[in-house]
Amino acid sequence: MEFQYILLAPVVLLVGIVIYFLKSKLESKQNQQTQQVIRSEEKKIQCQDQLIPISIYFGSQQGTAARFAKQLSEEGKEHGFITTEIDLNEVEFENEMKKGKVGIFCMATHGEGDPTDNAKKFISWLQEPQPSIIGFQFAVFGLGNRQYEHYNKIGKLTNNLLESQKGVRCYQYGEGDANSTLEDDFIDWKKDLWNELKISLKDLIDQAKNCQVQQEVQENPESTNDNTNTGSTFKLVVSNNEELNFDQALQGQYDFQTKQFLKAKYCQVVSISQLRQNQKDGSTLQIIFDTGREGIEYKTAMNLGVYPENDDQQILEIANYLGENLDTVYSLELLQQNNRAKLPFPSPLNVRKILKHFVDFNGQLMKNTLTKLSKISSNDEQLKNKLIQLTTEEGKAGFQDLVDNMKTTIFQLIKENNIKLNLAQFIELCPRISPRLFTIASSNLKNPQYVEIADSLLIDTLPNGTEKLGLCSQYFLNIQKKLLEGECVRVRVDFRESSFKLPDDPNKSIIMVGPGTGIAPFIGFLQEREIFLQNQPQRQNEYILYFGCKHQDGDFIYKDQLREFERSKTIDRFYTAFSRDQEQKCYVQDLLKRNSEELYNQILNDKVVIYICGSTNMGNSVQNLIKEILRKNGNWTEHEAEEKIQSMEKQKLLIKELW
Ligand SMILES: Cc1cc2nc3c(=O)[nH]c(=O)nc-3n(C[C@H](O)[C@H](O)[C@H](O)COP(=O)(O)OP(=O)(O)OC[C@H]3O[C@@H](n4cnc5c(N)ncnc54)[C@H](O)[C@@H]3O)c2cc1C
Ligand SMILES: Cc1cc2nc3c(=O)[nH]c(=O)nc-3n(C[C@H](O)[C@H](O)[C@H](O)COP(=O)(O)O)c2cc1C
Repeated sequence: MEFQYILLAPVVLLVGIVIYFLKSKLESKQNQQTQQVIRSEEKKIQCQDQLIPISIYFGSQQGTAARFAKQLSEEGKEHGFITTEIDLNEVEFENEMKKGKVGIFCMATHGEGDPTDNAKKFISWLQEPQPSIIGFQFAVFGLGNRQYEHYNKIGKLTNNLLESQKGVRCYQYGEGDANSTLEDDFIDWKKDLWNELKISLKDLIDQAKNCQVQQEVQENPESTNDNTNTGSTFKLVVSNNEELNFDQALQGQYDFQTKQFLKAKYCQVVSISQLRQNQKDGSTLQIIFDTGREGIEYKTAMNLGVYPENDDQQILEIANYLGENLDTVYSLELLQQNNRAKLPFPSPLNVRKILKHFVDFNGQLMKNTLTKLSKISSNDEQLKNKLIQLTTEEGKAGFQDLVDNMKTTIFQLIKENNIKLNLAQFIELCPRISPRLFTIASSNLKNPQYVEIADSLLIDTLPNGTEKLGLCSQYFLNIQKKLLEGECVRVRVDFRESSFKLPDDPNKSIIMVGPGTGIAPFIGFLQEREIFLQNQPQRQNEYILYFGCKHQDGDFIYKDQLREFERSKTIDRFYTAFSRDQEQKCYVQDLLKRNSEELYNQILNDKVVIYICGSTNMGNSVQNLIKEILRKNGNWTEHEAEEKIQSMEKQKLLIKELW
């Protein structure tokens, strides 16, 4: 027995040595592999740092700037850049806007020369000294509208502040006018963008190229170089899961407008009725929402954002065309491994809801949509050429006819040209639905439970005589029918701050200029004054109202309520201009002009706050008239009058809400 042990001992020793040797070899190999992985990861990180990602930041209120940013992002990828469109509200400025980084900004101007809500933080940050910006490479495109006094103020400001803080502009500043040529201005501006960036960012690109080549040789010798990018961020997958409730959807992963939609709330519609005496010249609806039931609080003269839904009949037609069943439930999956990629809507959701809430297939066609459609129909050479031609200089008149006269929608274009596409492509092609804003026409003090708006329906008459209603106009008319049938209807809404607030100083008089639906905020102001006078009958100030419409027995909205305010002296002075009730046209400006001497003295002594609400044309004429009164009645120079207007705006003595 002992002899056996003596014989076995060397064998055991030998086996032990072999095991030890094998184990240490294995460990060494594993170590080597780990080291390789670490080195490769380090390399990747190093490489990613050297690649040139371009961030396309956007400041957008109603989605156009976000759309332009998305378009730039898609084009940038086609040019070999790593581009991502980014909501300015989601940015850590110091980390992202610094030397070695590149950012393109699409910046809309809103309010009266103000930043959009999602760009407010950024603009305040930029107005302070920011050392990180030194060496940050940037380019800016501004979105504005020449009808507004402060044309493209925010685009210009962004460009100037980045430059004055020693950022490096790598492409010229550009801006566009939403009143006429916005998309063409954008196309013109970006014509040389990518080629110029390839030159101005050459050093960074060369570094990135070297890095990529090494990476491919070391890690992927059989690389097929297949990095075709379709630009799509998601795919649709049929799902057996239950549909998602919007109120439970996570915030953050969705694109700009969808995020706003998810933050909004459902509110029940109490009633919809006609505000005009007759509908010869149009239709204005009084729409009342029950906010109390939802526990929503609001303030007088805020803006209400309404998220309109597409029409059921149209939804059915589109689903049929795309070969989809309205009840099929889809889930969305992100295709891009990019933590900033966004989904167009939450899921799982059925086709009906996807088309109802998230796909704007009625809005104005854009050239970019035609370009995308031409790619989808690339098998049909003739159609492809026709679509491309419409986007060129020669096709300009044809495109204008399609948009301005025919008001052609994306779906009409697809159907008329028999273009075959699937649901995902259709979603990708269409923008998201933008909320429509309305100035609240009720006071929270008088009606804490209800919110009221006055909606002047937008109806275009097409060359063939048929009428095309605006999306939200159609939506409210559909709801009106449902209410008449006894249905309970809820609308998704949100509330936004407005610059219309009554003066803190109770001794200040106010002049309210609000023709048409511009009267809305003043209904709220007057309801508030009614309550105030009940508690404190002694008057310290004057409420003066200027209202205008076409006919006093046609479109004089809130006629009875306003006459009652006049009778009860809630309005101290009430001036009305009925433009077509007599031969000589008469507008609110004409009435103001008649009172120019009084107005001049009130302005001179900073005794009044002037509020103007309604169309941009009317607002501009009223402001020009004020300037003229300053010049004529006080012998002010043009420059002095202009400066006074600006100082009144700054001191909130002249406040406008124009659309
Ligand atoms: C701050 C603010 C306050 C407002 N307050 C009020 C208010 O109190 N009351 C009020 O009535 N309105 C108000 N508005 C305007 C309102 O928000 C809407 O713009 C208006 O009601 C029209 O909405 P819609 O969806 O019916 O029309 P949309 O469908 O949005 O149509 C808008 C325009 O686009 C054009 N268009 C639409 N589709 C096409 C197409 N396929 N091709 C070419 N052109 C097309 C239309 O001709 C029209 O000129 C306000 C706007 C703002 C910004
Ligand atoms: C209520 C309102 C106020 C606006 N104010 C201005 C302005 O002061 N200056 C300007 O140049 N454009 C102004 N615009 C025009 C917008 O900048 C323009 O329509 C832009 O395309 C909107 O981009 P968005 O859809 O991304 O918000 C205003 C538009 C609206 C609806």
